[in-house]
Amino acid sequence: MRYDHITELIGNTPLLRLDPAVHGLENVELYAKLESHNPFGSVKDRVAWGMIRDDLDRIRADGQTLIEASSGNTAKALRILGAVHGVGLRAVTNRIKVTEVRDLLQLFGTDIVELPGLSECPDPTTPNDVYSIIEATMAKEAGTYYHASQYTNEKNIEAHYSGTGREIHEDLAADGITRVDYLIGGLGTTGSTRGTATYLLQHHPELRTVAVVSDRTDFIPGIRSESEMWDVGLFQPDFYDRIVTIDSGRAVEATVRLATGYGILAGPTSGAGYAAALETLRAAQRSDGPVVAVFIVCDRLEPYLSYFKKRRPDLFGRADRHPAPTTAELAATPALSPDELADLDRTARPTIIDTRGAMAYRIGHIPGAINIRDDQLDDMFAHGIPFPRSRPLVFVCPVGELSLRFAATARAAGFDASSLSGGVVGWRDSGHPLER
Ligand SMILES: Cc1ncc(COP(=O)(O)O)c(C=O)c1O
Repeated sequence: MRYDHITELIGNTPLLRLDPAVHGLENVELYAKLESHNPFGSVKDRVAWGMIRDDLDRIRADGQTLIEASSGNTAKALRILGAVHGVGLRAVTNRIKVTEVRDLLQLFGTDIVELPGLSECPDPTTPNDVYSIIEATMAKEAGTYYHASQYTNEKNIEAHYSGTGREIHEDLAADGITRVDYLIGGLGTTGSTRGTATYLLQHHPELRTVAVVSDRTDFIPGIRSESEMWDVGLFQPDFYDRIVTIDSGRAVEATVRLATGYGILAGPTSGAGYAAALETLRAAQRSDGPVVAVFIVCDRLEPYLSYFKKRRPDLFGRADRHPAPTTAELAATPALSPDELADLDRTARPTIIDTRGAMAYRIGHIPGAINIRDDQLDDMFAHGIPFPRSRPLVFVCPVGELSLRFAATARAAGFDASSLSGGVVGWRDSGHPLER
């Protein structure tokens, strides 16, 4: 096949029927919509192109730079599309947690602005909200930036309505399949599930749409937790028939199964989608023929190797020196109040480890705390715990959840470790000073 431009390769992705001998579900036809086959590797290629295509000539003529809230696939697609058309990208994001994703964006020359906040979702009430920063930047430098705005732009949904949804319908219809019972997909901006399902519902009114989110305290790169979804402008909870929560352990297992069972090299959100599909379809039955279901394979496996290594060192032939603490270990780990930490600091010279990002630390930290970002700390713990045993350790994070996990792990290794209850937010709110 011959093409004149890389953008011609966006969309028209394959729909793969999954071998029932592998998934083992009786009377179920399960299909994977391989958005991973888009040229830059993800479901976001269509969206990025759809959001800028009509304005690209003007953006270039005006010498504008793209600006977008994204820490992953949208930024990658926008950067590449911009680059080949001579337009730059500033990606504004809270922490990019996957090393390879940051490396790829940097390799392509993205101007990355990483903020210290907790979530990338738009929440105008928090001063470090990504959208507020983008608006402030655009107001200060009027005319410099073009904001594609995937969280509010209807073209995000439209790209999947006229693309992903239509393609699934037409490919199944060409195969004589006239009914689609389920669509299953992860939630980020919600554009892919909303757009695809809206198209499918016009032809298959009985369709049930299943959304996949991560566990509240867990992390699957590319989708949000259910509580974070409330911050997303396009999110309409009533649109979904079911919202399934998958933890990262199940997502990783299912991702490996997709590769070894069907040859689908997909990222962890696709594993989460597959796990949610199996869970949903186990209970699904029809008397008039097989249940027909499609789940969205969002991106490729390779950029997540460090994520897999961190969660499953055993798969890489490494022993996990510090397995995740059990619920009992977490419950037994001391959580100090801000006053108790202040007392300890006066009497026992604790090593205070602030696990937030560098920018958050710079803006304000507990006096004397050292800064080791949580992902770096995870890496260090894989080799041993790099602190003196002669002093108490106190781990600190934004709100006190992650720090408890680090403290529990250090205690299991024999350290006198605790966590600051309520995190830096609790410390600040109880009137203790922050050092800049
Ligand atoms: C890897 C991955 N999976 C799933 C999603 C969810 O897509 P959407 O934003 O359409 O809800 C995203 C979106 O960023 C993603 O990057």
